[in-house]
Amino acid sequence: MDLTVRRLTTDDAKDIYEMLQELPADENGFINPVHGKTYDEYKLWLKKAYDDSVQTGIIDGWKVPGTVFWLFEDGKPVGFGKLRHFLTEKLLDAGGNIGYSIRPSERKRGLGKRFVAKLIEEGKIIGIERLLFTINNNNTPSIRVALANGGVIERVTEERHYISIVLKNE
Ligand SMILES: CC(C)(COP(=O)(O)OP(=O)(O)OC[C@H]1O[C@@H](n2cnc3c(N)ncnc32)[C@H](O)[C@@H]1OP(=O)(O)O)[C@@H](O)C(=O)NCCC(=O)NCCS
Repeated sequence: MDLTVRRLTTDDAKDIYEMLQELPADENGFINPVHGKTYDEYKLWLKKAYDDSVQTGIIDGWKVPGTVFWLFEDGKPVGFGKLRHFLTEKLLDAGGNIGYSIRPSERKRGLGKRFVAKLIEEGKIIGIERLLFTINNNNTPSIRVALANGGVIERVTEERHYISIVLKNE
């Protein structure tokens, strides 16, 4: 099985669009803005998402830079992930640095764990020093994925688990 991760590009095409229709619009707080949108709207979103990845500062007091990644298994898109390059106070509370989703038809085969392992490597390339996961307490699969990748539980509130991984030791 060949598993690869690639950054979003403005040339992404129909195969990714189809995956994004299969993934819900909001699942446990991970947002898929393309669900239910037309192909033309998807192409416009790709441009916006690309711009977000090359942004350097905070826009409008809240919008931080973020990069979208796709997971491919033997050439077929099976996962959608996102890394926020740094966080605001609000994102430290809910959102965190990392979000991910595996195509519903492809879940429970270990892809979630392997996708996050690859996103961690991408996070190092971006220069993220401490990667924060904020995960709803009822989202067992996601908590397991974070812990399997070396995540350390920092605290648990009534709503969520805060799990982190240090990517840069100095
Ligand atoms: C979270 C998610 C990416 C996991 O993907 P996956 O490919 O199914 O994950 P894996 O196959 O690597 O499984 C990881 C672990 O969760 C367990 N698991 C998977 N689905 C499960 C379920 N529905 N209930 C209980 N445990 C589950 C697996 O058995 C495995 O456990 P292990 O550590 O004992 O081996 C996937 O469930 C998903 O896309 N969820 C919706 C989006 C989401 O919630 N994203 C995270 C937001 S913070």
